[in-house]
Amino acid sequence: MVLVFSLSCYPFTYLSKRFSKKYNKGSVIMTKINIILGSSREASLGKNLFKYLKNNQKKYESQIDAELNFIEIGQYELPFFYESLPPMGNKHRHLPVKQQQWIDDMDSADGYIFLTPEYNHSFPAVIKNAIDYLSNQISNKAVLTMTYANNSRGGQFGGLELNAVLTRLNAFVIPQNVAISNVQKNFDEDGHFLEDAPSKDFYEKKLNQSIKKISFYSNLFKNNQFEQ
Ligand SMILES: Cc1cc2nc3c(=O)[nH]c(=O)nc-3n(C[C@H](O)[C@H](O)[C@H](O)COP(=O)(O)O)c2cc1C
Repeated sequence: MVLVFSLSCYPFTYLSKRFSKKYNKGSVIMTKINIILGSSREASLGKNLFKYLKNNQKKYESQIDAELNFIEIGQYELPFFYESLPPMGNKHRHLPVKQQQWIDDMDSADGYIFLTPEYNHSFPAVIKNAIDYLSNQISNKAVLTMTYANNSRGGQFGGLELNAVLTRLNAFVIPQNVAISNVQKNFDEDGHFLEDAPSKDFYEKKLNQSIKKISFYSNLFKNNQFEQ
């Protein structure tokens, strides 16, 4: 009897959950994930991968309990960090609009994907500079590092170094970077797979899975904060 009642209610419960998810989309309640392009080069190959993720935004969002927000580190035109006090504990910061915008954009997200190339066995200085502007904005939040390169190694040294820095800011770095090799052979400038992309199926699945993963952990940490 109880089972019959539960089963007959299921469609309504399911629909109400779906509706509330949709209803919350775009509001402050919805979990937000920043996807951050960490190369500021005009001719960045990472931009092709970034655009691919952006082109698939709707598809990804239909599978997760989160909204995706795409930002490029270059858009904030951050000068080399120059403040007289470290951001941590400095309550009296008055910053120019774009610098404050970077901090606010990072603060308002619940999780992050950093898209980073490998520059000289590390990650680009523009990412380190941007991170130095932060204090507690990414603390206790999930981060996935996605590395890429124009060769078969996929930029993994860059990811290892970036993860160490993110950990210092108390972010929960998801183990195992996602590495995308030969980015120029797989994605075109409009953010689509090239016709002769050698790893289309593999990366299609891998990227889809990565979005689900960061969404899962962003929600997990958002909804389960350790009480100090
Ligand atoms: C300054 C610089 C340093 C680089 N160092 C490395 C490196 O150490 N290892 C590597 O695999 N690729 C290296 N590369 C090649 C990059 O993987 C490739 O240029 C990639 O496209 C860079 O990303 P971007 O185009 O989005 O800036 C380097 C590229 C640049 C511009």
